[in-house]
Amino acid sequence: MLQDTYGRTFSYLRLSITDVCNFSCNYCLPDGYQRCHKEKFLTLEEIKCVANSFAQMGVEKIRITGGEPSLRKDLPEIIAAMKATPGIKKVALTTNGYKLTEQLPVWIEKGLDNLNVSIDSFEPSSFKLITGHDKLQEVLDGIEQALASGFNNIKINTVLMKEHSASQLQQYFDYIKERPVSLRFIELMQTGDNEEFYSAQHVSGQHIKNQLFAQGWTQVIQDKSAGPAQVFSHPDYQGTIGLIMPYSKDFCSTCNRLRVSSLGKLHLCLFSEQGLSLKEYLAQDDVEGLKDFVTQKLSDKHATHYLTEGFSGATKHLSMLGG
Ligand code: 5AD
Ligand code: SF4
Repeated sequence: MLQDTYGRTFSYLRLSITDVCNFSCNYCLPDGYQRCHKEKFLTLEEIKCVANSFAQMGVEKIRITGGEPSLRKDLPEIIAAMKATPGIKKVALTTNGYKLTEQLPVWIEKGLDNLNVSIDSFEPSSFKLITGHDKLQEVLDGIEQALASGFNNIKINTVLMKEHSASQLQQYFDYIKERPVSLRFIELMQTGDNEEFYSAQHVSGQHIKNQLFAQGWTQVIQDKSAGPAQVFSHPDYQGTIGLIMPYSKDFCSTCNRLRVSSLGKLHLCLFSEQGLSLKEYLAQDDVEGLKDFVTQKLSDKHATHYLTEGFSGATKHLSMLGG
């Protein structure tokens, strides 16, 4: 099992397969996606090599991210390949939901275990303002179809923004009353590109936590390996609520993940260096070489990010790395 100098173990890999996205979320790609490199995205063969190498180092769960991963035509093959990797127990996908109604049955057939969908507002007009697309209903229809077919491992990610989230909390709570969905509020993070937006819109998740306790929610005790979300449940609600508060003290102490970008770079943290290229190993399907490299580089992983000091590393926006 991969372990760093702070005793954290890494059983979870977030693998970005493209940095292209068709949405223009105001905190991420407000002007839409602009290609700023000429490099090729990882091929299916290279993705298999990444999965094999990390699985041999103890990774049990792979989340496929983007950009928007469903923009890759070979996404179903990628899901199948991840699922077929010895040692990988869970294959997850994060999507903006754009192709959900059309594609989810195929993804499930290929072995998808967990699905995260980003919905930053349950108000159609706010959804459109945030993402640039009038697609809320379609995304919600996709989730409804999934639930109806018995696929229950769904999380909804909502980025907290002063302008939208605070006033719309009740809508979020109502949504999960009768739906077994895990709704997760993520504090807006500062990236290289969104400094002004961040200053205007960042809110702490603490006020939600206070409201949850006031309304009878209780915090679920999580396993240390469960990752950094704080989870809450309520007897009257089928769904649960998660809070992801990267600015809170000790957030990084439960870090259980490593990241590989669509350009084949290892990122020890969402907010750190430019990424460490794995390309020479991937080109030769050199699993042993890749494992040695990652094991050695892991000793450079820092105890925490430097976000609270206003430093967001080389990360311009999260479409580069999939959050
Ligand atoms: N702060 C917080 N969350 C972000 N995401 C993208 N950019 C940011 C940011 N600056 C979220 C997306 C999606 C997940 C992959 O990351 O909304 O839910
Ligand atoms: Fe695309 Fe996700 Fe960025 Fe929105 S947050 S623009 S869906 S990559």
